[in-house]
Amino acid sequence: MTAADLRRKYLEFFQSKGHAVISGKSLIPENDPTVLFNTAGMQPLVPYLLGEKHPLGNRLVDVQKCVRTGDIDEVGDPSHLTFFEMLGNWSLGDYFKKDAIAYSYEFLTSKQWLGIDPKKLWVTVFAGEPGIPRDEDSADLWKSHGIPESRISYLPRKDNWWGPAGATGPCGPDSEMFYDTGRVCPKGEGCEGPACNCRKWLEIWNDVFMQYNKDSDGNYVLLAKPNVDTGMGVERTSTILQGKLSVYETELFTPIIAAVEKASGYRYGTDEAHDTYVRVVCDHVKTSCFILGDDLGVKPSNVGQGYVLRKLIRRAVRNGRKLGVTEPFLKGPAAAVLAIYRGVYDEIVDRANLIFEELTHEEERFLKTLEHGEKEWEKMLPGLMKNPQKVVSGRTAFKLYDTYGFPVEITTDLATENGLTVDRAGFDEAFSKHQELSKAGADKTFKGGLADHSEMTTALHTATHLMHKALQMVLGDHARQKGSNITPERLRFDFSHEAKMTPEQVAEVEQIVNTQIQRGLPVTMTMMSLQDAKAQGAMALFGEKYEETIKVYRIGDFSMEVCGGPHVENTEGMGHFKIQKEEASSAGVRRIRAVLEHQAP
Ligand code: ALA
Repeated sequence: MTAADLRRKYLEFFQSKGHAVISGKSLIPENDPTVLFNTAGMQPLVPYLLGEKHPLGNRLVDVQKCVRTGDIDEVGDPSHLTFFEMLGNWSLGDYFKKDAIAYSYEFLTSKQWLGIDPKKLWVTVFAGEPGIPRDEDSADLWKSHGIPESRISYLPRKDNWWGPAGATGPCGPDSEMFYDTGRVCPKGEGCEGPACNCRKWLEIWNDVFMQYNKDSDGNYVLLAKPNVDTGMGVERTSTILQGKLSVYETELFTPIIAAVEKASGYRYGTDEAHDTYVRVVCDHVKTSCFILGDDLGVKPSNVGQGYVLRKLIRRAVRNGRKLGVTEPFLKGPAAAVLAIYRGVYDEIVDRANLIFEELTHEEERFLKTLEHGEKEWEKMLPGLMKNPQKVVSGRTAFKLYDTYGFPVEITTDLATENGLTVDRAGFDEAFSKHQELSKAGADKTFKGGLADHSEMTTALHTATHLMHKALQMVLGDHARQKGSNITPERLRFDFSHEAKMTPEQVAEVEQIVNTQIQRGLPVTMTMMSLQDAKAQGAMALFGEKYEETIKVYRIGDFSMEVCGGPHVENTEGMGHFKIQKEEASSAGVRRIRAVLEHQAP
């Protein structure tokens, strides 16, 4: 059974149970600021799950494109993907556990539908916790269909509770269906079933019994009418229906693997480590095609969805290098992706040129970064070779990362080539210290204040520095920060200045900031004493109490300011800076509201 058969059967089955087929939505949520991508079929349906009436009724079914990056480190194994398709059926205050479980069981096991051997199925149900009872109803329902108690696992919230990716929204206990792949668990007879997390068990479907809405204060409020939200993975279910052990063995991946083989000259199946690199490339290039080719698609950048896209492409390039590829090569595998989804997701087929161009462009850009970092490495190498322990310190590896965007994995590869090792623990320490400092800095700034640490606020924070400098250039040195407040949507900045700014001055500030953004300036941080910072001409807030050692952020050669961070790594891709409002705040203080607009691809 092909993936196409599976999609068709699923829609047909639920139609026969009174569900209306609705179209899957864009990968990028239109009106939901809580997530960057649709991570589940329910995401676009949140308003209906919270009680709004759906025009097509209270039983719905669809196929939804999803992107999840939470499991990115597991990508390359047999079942974790960053892009996948989710089959979903919903009851909006209509049927609940009894029918949901009956439908799941029938669709999975009936010869007319998937015909899976019931003996291979295990299910999990919510074990309960103080205040929320164990889900006996679901367990009894599974038993009534013939699943014995011995194949039912009762698991805690971490496994059997489903809430949306965002902090708020509809949620509840769930019941998951697993397929026994026949693989042998490393624990042998000691395997605890699906809770074991070994590769023997493949989760294929999840029935969520949505009874609550989690509000912004963290309270679970009972919904007036409970809903059912389910999600079945197309790639995983196709895998078991085709008697395969890995999603990469299905027609949703084999042509991409062939294209990576062609581009790299590596034969898949030769060696497990290299096979994993191939699989990572396949996964990442597919997800990149879907993000670029979406109706609401974005280009690589340093914020939001564009940042995720950039990371995916760069990871694909890095894995390609491990296969021996040194030139841009993603176009071939991307073409294979488009061919697989022709007639299913034509939006990516129609944007083939844009996808190929953007992939290649980003590959070239990253290869340049690598080249730059390699030059620095060459300069450092003679000194490093003098180290008697033949160890590259964590600090050095971190410097390459922090200053040149050089990934530590590549530093490690280069070190190995020269008979050196990298103090990875030291790097990790420097890295997490840097993260902590950024966080502490952001917390400190909170009063001033960054509302959260999302990438959008980070970019707006960098834009604030650019604007601060631009204001001084246009209005004079007296234009100094008096207050700053940033939300994911906009920056607000108070500064000392008497008169209303003229439209020409506003336009000039915008133009200066946008020019700096376009220059693609690197943002670097140095720790120094306040005295040194002032001596070097860094802007600092007067009257503010600083620590002994402070952080100074430089944006290329343009701005230098004492600040806690965090900031983007490079101004490139921050978007288009626009001042929306300039008004009086108090006597002698003006207030600006400004935004970074996304440029459409
Ligand atoms: N929304 C549920 C999930 O993604 C079905 O698992």
